[in-house]
Amino acid sequence: MRVLVTGGAGFIGSHVVDELAEKDPEIVVVVDNFFLGSMENLVDSSSKLGSRLKIVTWDSGDYFLMKKLFRRHKIDVVFNLAIIPLPASLKEPIWTWEQNIKMTQILSELARKKEYKTLIHFSSSETYGTGVDVPMPETHLLDPKTPYAASKAATDHLIQSYIHTFQIDAAIVRPFNTYGPRQNDQSYAAVIPLTIKRILSGKPPVIHGDGEQTRDFVYVTDTARAAILTFESDRTRGRIVNIGSGREITINEVIEQICSAMSYEGEIEHTEPRPGDVRRHQADISLAKELIDYEPQVLFEDGIEKTVEWFEGKAQGQQ
Ligand SMILES: NC(=O)c1ccc[n+]([C@@H]2O[C@H](COP(=O)([O-])OP(=O)(O)OC[C@H]3O[C@@H](n4cnc5c(N)ncnc54)[C@H](O)[C@@H]3O)[C@@H](O)[C@H]2O)c1
Repeated sequence: MRVLVTGGAGFIGSHVVDELAEKDPEIVVVVDNFFLGSMENLVDSSSKLGSRLKIVTWDSGDYFLMKKLFRRHKIDVVFNLAIIPLPASLKEPIWTWEQNIKMTQILSELARKKEYKTLIHFSSSETYGTGVDVPMPETHLLDPKTPYAASKAATDHLIQSYIHTFQIDAAIVRPFNTYGPRQNDQSYAAVIPLTIKRILSGKPPVIHGDGEQTRDFVYVTDTARAAILTFESDRTRGRIVNIGSGREITINEVIEQICSAMSYEGEIEHTEPRPGDVRRHQADISLAKELIDYEPQVLFEDGIEKTVEWFEGKAQGQQ
């Protein structure tokens, strides 16, 4: 197996690289411009893979670089995770849109030109907008609420158009909210790392709106494993597959769980709802169960414990 992972130094990407390292690949090429990724995220896989791990610090939206990498390393499969995240799209909507489209557009085109064989693309549950039919199947209405979500929906459509028109070999995984060790806790951080970091630095957690908005939280190793299973099964080709836990949790419950794991009993700050925030998310994961025999392995309560422990270790300089 000769693999290329875009965004492989990021949160989910680095866990995908860890899972790949267990499969004894011939080569894993990570392309990341380190906009949010970190070399530290690749320390474990680097010690396992040694010289079979190549890290290329560049823009995965660069057509000629990617073509050169595919030819030089004879790549079979691409896991496409590079992204500008949702919070960035609230501040820099056009730039986020342009970046996110470009990175996937060139991979679709290079698949059409047979520069590599298989594309496993990461979509997002944000493409659905607020859940109308809950739990939400893959056939749920797409109603993106932010420029980020619109860019994710657009790239899914683009890949599907290439599958139908040019028969490229591709599958799309659509994770719901993924959390766990290595999630970005700096600019543009999501609720779980942000809350843990605030408590660690003596600040109160913040809840946007009434906190009754729900999400389906899936632990990162479950998401990464599901992506590899999606690659390994021919039955996924041309399909979109939800990856979640199947459990609906309110943001109030998430904050409560983190506070309890960190023995925090102080104030909780409430602010205005976040622009474009979706109200309800719960994944229907029956297709993933059927196609790739997927079962989430990490319970939310256990996942939060592990995540808190990891961020506490990082704060103490152990990670
Ligand atoms: N985290 C979640 O909850 C979640 C949920 C659903 C879907 N997803 C999807 O999973 C994928 C990975 O998300 P993540 O949470 O790991 O994000 P992340 O920000 O941790 O990782 C993305 C990586 O892409 C890199 N990157 C950005 N622009 C680049 C460019 N031009 N060239 C090369 N690399 C670039 C960043 O440096 C970063 O390392 C994304 O496609 C995202 O849409 C994430």
